[in-house]
Formats: sequence, structure tokens, C-alpha cells
Amino acid sequence: MPESHTAPTGGWSGRFNEPVSELVKRFTASVGFDFRLAEWDIAGSLAHARMLRAVGVLTALDLSAIERGMDAIRAEIAAGTFAWSVDLEDVHFNIEKRLTALVGDPGKRLHTARSRNDQIATDIRLFLRAAIDQIVALVKGLQSALADTAEKNAAVIMPGFTHMQVAQPVTFGHHLLAYFEMLERDVERLRDCRKRVNRLPLGAAALAGTSYPIDRAMVARELGFDAVSRNSLDAVSDRDFAIEFCAAAALIMTHLSRLSEELILWMSPRFGFIELADRFCTGSSIMPQKKNPDVAELVRGKTGRVNGHLVALLTLMKGQPLAYNKDNQEDKEPLFDTVDTLVMTLTIYADMIGGIEVKADRMRAAASEGYATATDLADYLVKKGAPFRDAHETVARAVRHAEGLGCELAALPLAELQSFSPAIAADVYQVLALEGSVASRNHVGGTAPEQVRSAVQAARALIAS
Ligand code: ARG
Repeated sequence: MPESHTAPTGGWSGRFNEPVSELVKRFTASVGFDFRLAEWDIAGSLAHARMLRAVGVLTALDLSAIERGMDAIRAEIAAGTFAWSVDLEDVHFNIEKRLTALVGDPGKRLHTARSRNDQIATDIRLFLRAAIDQIVALVKGLQSALADTAEKNAAVIMPGFTHMQVAQPVTFGHHLLAYFEMLERDVERLRDCRKRVNRLPLGAAALAGTSYPIDRAMVARELGFDAVSRNSLDAVSDRDFAIEFCAAAALIMTHLSRLSEELILWMSPRFGFIELADRFCTGSSIMPQKKNPDVAELVRGKTGRVNGHLVALLTLMKGQPLAYNKDNQEDKEPLFDTVDTLVMTLTIYADMIGGIEVKADRMRAAASEGYATATDLADYLVKKGAPFRDAHETVARAVRHAEGLGCELAALPLAELQSFSPAIAADVYQVLALEGSVASRNHVGGTAPEQVRSAVQAARALIAS
């Protein structure tokens, strides 16, 4: 933020006998971070001014002066020549003062029938609405990378885990699509949150509304809001829409943190399931052999700060009586940082997923250790008439036997398998095979390659919606 220093001149100075101290000025000023709301602040001001003109509070000359001044201010901000001043406290006063310097009295008339309280509530909603649209698009980009990678790996077999122990074989495509589903719910949450973000607070003024003959519906239309807020006290004071957004954001990060944890494990030589492209990894200054999955680790780490922002906003709100309190100024930095973290994380992540190198042989080898098809053998015995509990016990004994020999179930000769149950026949080896196991789970939501391929098609339709 480029700064200038002007004489202390708040929008309220006439009431005071002495200026605020330098320290208090810096303590209470928000321009250091809310300057980034300028574009929304100007949009809100222009909509307000056009409405004031339409209802006869401003003249056509006032309005055209305000429009001209705002154009100039936009250009200054874009060029980086706008002189932001801490003396002017926040984005609202900075812009208003500059407007008045540029166009004179019409600049001073702009603040008729509004307050910084409904102004800031409007600015954040406009900011957040745009941020949600951007984040939804980025989540879809990541979903798309997941769907593409899932399609390529629809038939690649890996061990599925419960309790981090090898449980049953699954396909890698199926595993990746689990994250697609999480992100799809994230998109739903963001879209739902957007409905409540998209209400117009302007008109609430400081807290009680205004005595001017305002046309709130016109301002709402102009700014693309779906509706106007129905209660002025609520409109200026609540930030639940921002809290909701942060909750949705925390869930997105939590989902990515889980995936990061898996990428990190899969990339470790113990697993060796994948390689991440070099551009997402860094080396060690001391250990020349190292290739560290820094991006994944950092996403896992940044999840902590986004979760923290959610708690910060909840805590900020919980003790506030109606209506506006200065506490609310503290909503900006957590909200901005949440948006920035998500935008950067999602952008990098889509690229990282698209660049995964899959070590199918390593995945397959891991799935064939650990008796991953033991359940298939139990199901086989059930189909031959054994009650499931008995079948479970029979297979447990067979596994213990194989473990003692240090081999897989499929490596036991038929006669040896038959010693556990006479129902076992030569067709058992298809059941013990990994491919047979995954192919048999061929229903909606199952891990069979055929299901993965149709799930990818369904996923693409959702991405396009
Ligand atoms: N900077 C303030 C905020 O972020 C703007 C509204 C200030 N209103 C007031 N009456 N002090 O909430």
C-alpha cells in the first residue's frame, strides 16, 4: 500500500477536542488491509449515488461529478499512484476524501443516507461473492485433474487401508474419486453460502435505517444482489456469512490436508506408490539424496491456519451485542488470508495432481502382500453355503497358516487350502486374485474398473454443472 501523510482528519473530527494519538491512530486504522476492498467500495458508492440521483437526493450534476471522480480514483489505484493514508483510517474515508479533493461538494454529498457500517458490510459481501465464484472455479479445476488421473488409473490396483493396515484391494482411480466427492460437497457448500452472502446491507445506514426516500431494490439490482437485508440491525452487525464461508474453506483445506498426507506417504520410499513432479518438491541443503514433498506438507500445514481463522471469526462474533461494533474490523484479515490461501493452494494442487507419476507395479505388489483378498475367500465360502461367521473363522486360520509359511494365500497349494474347508475348489484362485477381487465389486459406488470409468463420466457432468 503506497502511503502519504496528511493532517489528521477523520470524518468525525468536529466532535473532538484533541486528535487521536499516533499510536491509537495506527491501532484503529484498517486501511493497511481494507484498501484491497477499494474496487468494491467504489462499486457500492456508485450504485448508492445512482440511486440517490434517481430518488432526487442528488442532482444529475452531483452524480456525474461523482462518476468522473470515481473513474479517476480507479485509474489512480490501478496505476499504484493513489496515496493511501493511515490518517484517514480506512478505505472508505480515503476514497471519500480523494473524491472530494477531485470533484468538490458532490464528493461530500455521497455519504448521504448511508454509514460506514452498511458500507463495509456491503464491501465484504461483494468481495466474498467474487471470491466464492473464483474458488468454486478452482475447486472444479482440481476435480477435473482428479477425474482425468482417475480415468487413467481406473484399473490400477493398490491396497485399500483401514487403520492404516492393508484391508482390501481397491483401484487407484476409485481412491482418487473419493476426493472428487469430498470436493463436490465443498462446491455445494460454497454455492449455498453464496446465497446468504448475496444480500444487500446498504440502506441499513448506521443501524436503524435512514429517513431519506431510498430505493434499496434499485441498489441491489445494480450490484447484482439477490435481495435486500430485511433487518437493519442484523445487516450491519452480523458476519455469519463470512463465518460460514470460513467453515466451508476449512473443510476444503481439511480435505486437501488428508490427500496431502496420503501423497506424502505414497511418495516415501517405504510405499513408493507415486512420484510427484520435481517442480512441486525441494531438496535438502545437507542430504543430497532428498526429494521432499514440500507443497503437500505445506498444504497440510496451512490447513491449521485456515481452521484458526474460522475459530477467530466465531470468537470475534460471540460476545457482540447489537448492532455494529468495531470488533468487526477484525474480520478482514482472517477472511482475506483464508481466500488467499485457498486460491493459491487450489491452483497449485490441480497442477500437482495432473503431474502425478503412478508406480502401478509398486501399488500392485503392496496389495498382494497383507492378505488383501481374505474377505473375498470368506465370501467365496459363503456362496458355497457356509455361514459368514464360520467362513470368517476358516479364513482367519488359513491366513495364520500362510503367515507362518511367509507366503500369500494364493501361493498355498489347493490341497492345503482344502484342509481348512472341503468347499474350496480350483476356482478359488480366481477369487484370491487381485483383479477378480476389484472387478467383483461392480455396483454403483464400488471399486471395479468399470464403475470407476462410469464414475469419471458422472464426475465430468458434475464439473460442467
Ligand atoms: N473499518 C471499519 C470496519 O472494518 C469500517 C466501519 C467503521 N464504522 C465505524 N462506525 N467505526 O468495520
